[in-house]
Amino acid sequence: MYILGIESSCDETSAAVVSMDEGKREILSNIVASQIETHRLYGGVVPEIASRAHIEAISGITYEALEKANLKIEDIDCIAVTSHPGLIGALLVGVNFAKSLSFAYGIPLVAVNHVKAHVAAAYLEYPELEAPFAALVVSGGHTSFYSVNTPTEFIEIGGTRDDAAGEAFDKIGRVIGMPYPAGAAMDKLCYEGNPTAIKLPSPAIVGDNADFSFSGLKTAALNYINSERQKGVEPNAADITASYTKVIVDAIVKKTDYIIKAYKPSTLVLAGGVAANSHIRRALDELCEKKGAKLYMPSLSLCGDNAAMVAMAGYFEYLKGNFSDTYLNASANDEI
Ligand code: KG4
Ligand code: ZN
Repeated sequence: MYILGIESSCDETSAAVVSMDEGKREILSNIVASQIETHRLYGGVVPEIASRAHIEAISGITYEALEKANLKIEDIDCIAVTSHPGLIGALLVGVNFAKSLSFAYGIPLVAVNHVKAHVAAAYLEYPELEAPFAALVVSGGHTSFYSVNTPTEFIEIGGTRDDAAGEAFDKIGRVIGMPYPAGAAMDKLCYEGNPTAIKLPSPAIVGDNADFSFSGLKTAALNYINSERQKGVEPNAADITASYTKVIVDAIVKKTDYIIKAYKPSTLVLAGGVAANSHIRRALDELCEKKGAKLYMPSLSLCGDNAAMVAMAGYFEYLKGNFSDTYLNASANDEI
């Protein structure tokens, strides 16, 4: 069967066609139209601009995805759309477009949770992956651990109490002069810096839990940068980046170690935009190797927002019979 995925929760408009057959999952197309250049002018995502850009792109992107897959809309067996969480005005564009297509062509519609879609990216590349497992989703909006009982049933077992790791990277990256979003550039710059140059507080919440707090770390890094600048010294961006990344990576390792100890999962999935970070990937690889847990990480192109992961997550909703109709609404709500 063919699933058309549609994603518009933040600043990427994406449409994809995924073919699902017994044991075989193939991405036939996965078109991502990024709005980054537009938002860069403002140093972050401007919701109203994001909605308008989604409206401009969504139809063309969808037909491009169908064309690349060599299919017509009539060939599609199911439409999967991200309905939550995300920016409400942005989500509404994808949801309304998907509902219209579904209604006009009589194609079944399923609603997809964006966080579950990030995790589903791993199923696209690793057909052997089977729930139950533990998942860590690290993105611009999330830093959470889940106990994944089935592909559609997630229970949150830890996570950030304030900001997300991606947001923390983007914020400090901006202060040291990097364009939005700074995550990937900071990843590279780390290799040129000294990770012990600047003492920064850990974002790991003390105790037996899997929780984080990134706001204190952000403030500490900001205070350091400002106090250096007040002395007339421009702080070394590579050292800040390396030191900042080190405390984030160490905290993620510490809390993943706790999850492995407390929940004893045989398998762990790392997903979300920040899962592209080479330092986090290496550190979790080493941890899981040491602890005897199998680690699955989507390849870099499937870590960031894309509609192939939405189509994959939609397939599981389809199998469960979780269909939506024209009453489907978007929601900014984080509920999993
Ligand atoms: O999952 P995603 O595409 O969008 C959300 O659902 O939020 O994640 C975007 C986030 C941004 O904060 C971006 O800076 C970060 O992922 N990111 C990275 C890397 N590549 C993207 N953060 C750290 N290292 C990277 N290599
Ligand atoms: Zn995302």
